[in-house]
Amino acid sequence: MASPMKTKSVWFCTSCGNESPKWMGQCPACGEWNTMVEEKVAKGPSSERKVASLSKDSVSVRLSEVGTDDSQRISLHIAEVDRLLGGGLVRGSLVLIGGEPGIGKSTLSLQIPMMNPELKVLYVTGEESLAQVKMRASRIGGNQDNCLIYSQTCIEDVIQEARRVNPDLLIVDSVQTMYSYSLEGSSGSVSQVRECASLLLRYAKESGTPIFLIGHITKEGSIAGPKVLEHIVDVVLQFEGENRGAYRLLRGIKNRFGSTSELAVFEMTGTGLREVTNPSEMLIPMHAEGLSGVAVCAMLDGTRPFLIEVQALVSSAAYGTPQRSATGFDQRRLNMLLAVLEKRSGFKLAQKDVFINVAGGLKVNDPACDLAVICAVLSSNFDLSIPADLCFAAEVGLSGEIRPVSQTDRRVSEAARLGFKRIFVSKYASVEHVMKGIEVVKVGDVTELVKNLFKE
Ligand code: TYD
Ligand code: MG
Repeated sequence: MASPMKTKSVWFCTSCGNESPKWMGQCPACGEWNTMVEEKVAKGPSSERKVASLSKDSVSVRLSEVGTDDSQRISLHIAEVDRLLGGGLVRGSLVLIGGEPGIGKSTLSLQIPMMNPELKVLYVTGEESLAQVKMRASRIGGNQDNCLIYSQTCIEDVIQEARRVNPDLLIVDSVQTMYSYSLEGSSGSVSQVRECASLLLRYAKESGTPIFLIGHITKEGSIAGPKVLEHIVDVVLQFEGENRGAYRLLRGIKNRFGSTSELAVFEMTGTGLREVTNPSEMLIPMHAEGLSGVAVCAMLDGTRPFLIEVQALVSSAAYGTPQRSATGFDQRRLNMLLAVLEKRSGFKLAQKDVFINVAGGLKVNDPACDLAVICAVLSSNFDLSIPADLCFAAEVGLSGEIRPVSQTDRRVSEAARLGFKRIFVSKYASVEHVMKGIEVVKVGDVTELVKNLFKE
């Protein structure tokens, strides 16, 4: 007699979800070491067939006859989230919100129904009890009448309930707590996470219901999470930032319906997350006059310019090998910039410890920060402060030349708007529409910069 359900072992990479029939030290797909974990999977028919019936109109149609229902985007009344989504939530889309525990994923996802009482929302909680969600909702405030809450961890039951209720928006918190009864293995394993997400995806596409799916990531990536799901879902939004600090950054990592180079800033307050529409305010209260090692960069994240503070500390190395460490900035780029200072401008930094920190827990990858990093390092090295009304926006090349960056005029305008009096840019930057009240200083190389900056 054949057993009803056979199981076999497969190995999954917890970093990228790659599947392999045997254990390997290094994942062949993503190259990570020690990420393969064993899981038992059942060789039965997939539950997708049991749960989801394909919609009836699954026949091919002419592309020209397909309507674009862009007007069908739903506004969530949180302008920053709408902007990240590319102008509102698209019907039938599956949006993953990833982030470390405690960063604010549940808060944001509960804030959406509270601020949109006209939407019928089904909020599925697999982590917290109904009373805990209620407490959080009362803390956030807002209208709770049209929000249904359901405590469940079996994904098939979640989908069944969603079919019954037919909400305008489904929120599932979190994917790691959900399981499908068709699979072996505990919730949170790679195969469970992937199965739950694909069942939800199928429900979203079939019913046109948008879904917010919450996923945890840990620093080590030890729990199967957003990385595994990135290719299944339509949109990935990721929370970043220090969860001890007040600011939380929500970044678009993937978006099938909009740009990914967008960033939204939120502040965690006593009553939920508050949008920070002017992110430069992150920097201004922290900026003290007369400190050495501080330089302000007019950077661009996505399409928005904002100003950010770069801090540097340069001190004599206590041990033989100097330390170089960067928080929020690429360490290799820092090493390159230090080498440029050493070789092209003759600053003796080889025997110095250099630490760089970008304020606000932000990770920057805009090359326009180069100049601010160099100036912060020099300022700390000489112990000479940079005037507080001065900022920088330029890239530094390998031969010490100062290169222009994209949209210099917008950076200059943002700096002027925030009351900065002088900005250093590349000699080659085109700054046509200069706002009044700011002096644009054009410099060609590091030597010229130093002469200009520390001449007083
Ligand atoms: P939470 O949304 O539970 O994080 P996640 O779901 O990503 O794990 O956020 C929890 C943190 O936010 C917790 O430390 C408490 C804090 N918090 C506030 O500061 N203010 C609030 O209004 C709420 C609801 C939470
Ligand atoms: Mg949570």
